[in-house]
Amino acid sequence: MILAKDVYLKYTNGTMALKNINLVIPPGEVIYITGPSGSGKTSLLKLFMGMEYPSMGSLMVIGKHMNESESANIRHLRQQMGPIFQEFKLINGRTVMENVMLGMRFLGFSSTQMKKNAREALMKVGLEPKMFSLVENLSWGERQRAAIARAVARKPTLILADEPTGNLDKDNALNILNLLTSFRDKDTTVIITTHATHLIGNEENCKFIRMDKGQLYLERLVEAE
Ligand SMILES: Nc1ncnc2c1ncn2[C@@H]1O[C@H](COP(=O)(O)OP(=O)(O)OP(=O)(O)O)[C@@H](O)[C@H]1O
Ligand SMILES: [Mg+2]
Repeated sequence: MILAKDVYLKYTNGTMALKNINLVIPPGEVIYITGPSGSGKTSLLKLFMGMEYPSMGSLMVIGKHMNESESANIRHLRQQMGPIFQEFKLINGRTVMENVMLGMRFLGFSSTQMKKNAREALMKVGLEPKMFSLVENLSWGERQRAAIARAVARKPTLILADEPTGNLDKDNALNILNLLTSFRDKDTTVIITTHATHLIGNEENCKFIRMDKGQLYLERLVEAE
């Protein structure tokens, strides 16, 4: 699913956000990325999403090389990705349902299919009763779930959630993590960045990556058997 070899990311202002990243993520995994603020978690997700390209090294995501010359293919690749951003990126003035469908509009879904998938996704996240509410009238946890519904409605094979437990109390944070990991299946990988290290680690068969000053450390592997 993801193969990174000696990857570096240097932003245009000179900040070296990621150094010497080597990583293999097979399909069907749950991966948690932890680490202090500024350690490079969001930067790593941006590379996986093709929002930034490696400054050095090679990165493959779902079989595609992630570099500038492949940008047309990478746009196509995004159909298979469900990103959930740290700041949600929901569109105010639109309903929950509209926000969820917006994510699919440009991906070639028919309007019947869009409505069907959106409704299914909202049911999965428990937000069907609020589907006609404006997103700005939702609580934080509900916004989080709306963002998740938008990400999963296209049935992605790679779900990337950036700090989905931020601003939530323990119970809600756990609910969100359980919800996100429930989308894992044999073809679908779920990658979650989080500060909430005390809440993670109970699921079977998940991997932990710790980031520190732009470097990556594989923490421990929890085996199912
Ligand atoms: N667009 C950018 N241009 C320049 N530097 C950036 C940019 N985005 C992030 N950085 C820098 O790269 C480093 C890693 O940032 P990143 O956002 O990946 O950290 P993070 O681990 O996600 O932090 P947080 O937990 O606060 O979300 C930081 O030093 C940050 O200041
Ligand atoms: Mg971040």
